[in-house]
Amino acid sequence: MPHPSAIRLGLNVDHVATLRNARGGARPDPVRIALAAIAAGADGITAHLREDRRHIRDTDMARLKAEIPKPLNFEMAATPDMIRIALETKPHAVCLVPERREELTTEGGLDVVGQRDSLAPSIARFGDAGIRVSLFIAADAQQIEMAAQLRAPAIEIHTGGWCDAVVDGHTEKADAEWRRIVEGVALAKSAGLEVHAGHGLDYATAETIAALPEIVELNIGYFMMGEALLVGIAETVRTMRAAMDRGRATLKTRMA
Ligand code: PXP
Repeated sequence: MPHPSAIRLGLNVDHVATLRNARGGARPDPVRIALAAIAAGADGITAHLREDRRHIRDTDMARLKAEIPKPLNFEMAATPDMIRIALETKPHAVCLVPERREELTTEGGLDVVGQRDSLAPSIARFGDAGIRVSLFIAADAQQIEMAAQLRAPAIEIHTGGWCDAVVDGHTEKADAEWRRIVEGVALAKSAGLEVHAGHGLDYATAETIAALPEIVELNIGYFMMGEALLVGIAETVRTMRAAMDRGRATLKTRMA
């Protein structure tokens, strides 16, 4: 049994596929990296099957589902085609994100308020199939309340704005974004949602956010892949795990 205050580390392997696709061959293999990360302590693997298939491909998703011994989080836009593929793949979880072809990465959160009518049946369909849905949203009260109203089991709070502000040294913006996150995760938890967070996290920001007791999962990709180029994926996972555990330990000290 994991400790009740444990926080899960989900590794996003999209950028292994980005590197592989640069040469059009089979290496590096995202599944092999996923297995090495799990052996080093990652609790799950996230992969985003984009409409344009720019990194992860359909066969990667099928192989991840078949070959990894930990939960697969299938990140996707809620389009009819992607919903069909996800239902066929039967991952542990899906994370619904907005998607624009021209973006470099998922830029904003999902507009759950604006898309409530189309999201409600998708959330219900995944629920019926036993697949946990999380909605990737900004730490915005209206979006969080709507996610709870639509009976999504989980949300993932978009940490990109906060992380960028921290890294760029924009202290005022970073403080404001942090306050939004702290208030948002408290609201989400009180509304009965399981709370995850991700985007732009590095060792320092992961340690900081792991101190929020409401958060049970962090999904991290780009920074960890960059580190893995220098020290390998196993060492990167262990260092990230240690940073998250340090953050969590401050929570236990505060509660003692
Ligand atoms: N969570 C979601 C929903 C994402 O779209 C991404 C980016 O693919 C991540 C987490 C991971 O973000 P990063 O690669 O910046 O760590």
